[in-house]
Amino acid sequence: MNSPAVKEILITGASSGIGMELARQLGVPGHRLWLVARSTEKLDVLADEIRAAGGQAEVRALDLSDIEGCGSFLEKFTKEVRLDELYLAAAVSIFGEVKDIQPEDWDLIYRTDLLSYVQWTQAFYEVMAKARRGRIVMVSSLAGYAGYPTSVPYATMKAGLLGLFRTLRHEAPGQGVSVHLVSPGYVRTGIYRSAIYRRSNPDNTLKQIDEMGFKMIEPSEAAEAILKGIKAGKDELVFPRYAKLLAWVAPRFPGLVDGIHARMVKRFRELSA
Ligand SMILES: NC(=O)c1ccc[n+]([C@@H]2O[C@H](COP(=O)([O-])OP(=O)(O)OC[C@H]3O[C@@H](n4cnc5c(N)ncnc54)[C@H](OP(=O)(O)O)[C@@H]3O)[C@@H](O)[C@H]2O)c1
Repeated sequence: MNSPAVKEILITGASSGIGMELARQLGVPGHRLWLVARSTEKLDVLADEIRAAGGQAEVRALDLSDIEGCGSFLEKFTKEVRLDELYLAAAVSIFGEVKDIQPEDWDLIYRTDLLSYVQWTQAFYEVMAKARRGRIVMVSSLAGYAGYPTSVPYATMKAGLLGLFRTLRHEAPGQGVSVHLVSPGYVRTGIYRSAIYRRSNPDNTLKQIDEMGFKMIEPSEAAEAILKGIKAGKDELVFPRYAKLLAWVAPRFPGLVDGIHARMVKRFRELSA
């Protein structure tokens, strides 16, 4: 059982990008961080960095797409550790037109980007609700509001997270649990290199993002925006400013983003020809 003086925080996707920066910013004295991803080596380096800064850190190497394996882990872990805060930031992206997406791609993106979020949220929500305290933060994406042609499986799962959040947010406060959904626009992380590509490649995608002129923020800025928003009591957070605007406009006036989406598809085809 954990000491009440220590805040127990678990972060998935802690080996890279936004998850890693959240860990760095939360890894302060008085916090014990549970760092989850597949890359043990990267997590070990991060854990050492956090310990050197006076925080506490533990590494748990897990493949989140292995729902059964994670089920066994969660059953044991939720009995041993009373978690205060859960940050779900692990995901894999994909670029390709739907006609080229393989069934195994849909399966992997579904298990990693949606089912795993549901599984971890459900597991910790239950124990947090019993204790009548806790916080769950799901990292989603602007794609969940606006869609993302040439990344349809990713956008589909992120839209699923929006559904999960917008309904759970009404049950959670009565149980003493706060649930947050954070949706960034473009962030300069490894996600573009580790994505699945069908008839394209990372260089094409990064070139296209650059050409579109949307600002790519740094992962440290994204983590700061998340922690600042949560501290300010916001439960649904979209950033930076252009993402906030598009997330508002796209569901209300889809015609206004049609032009952007049509250009994205056209340029994707030109670059992958
Ligand atoms: N970067 C962007 O432009 C952007 C924009 C909007 C939203 N987001 C969202 O922000 C969150 C963080 O993404 P990021 O950009 O920081 O990406 P990233 O740098 O690629 O980090 C992704 C993390 O997820 C982990 N991961 C992926 N598949 C996993 C699996 N099967 N099991 C365990 N861990 C797994 C990776 O660790 P291992 O490889 O070590 O397992 C890594 O730590 C995601 O939800 C993403 O959708 C990103």
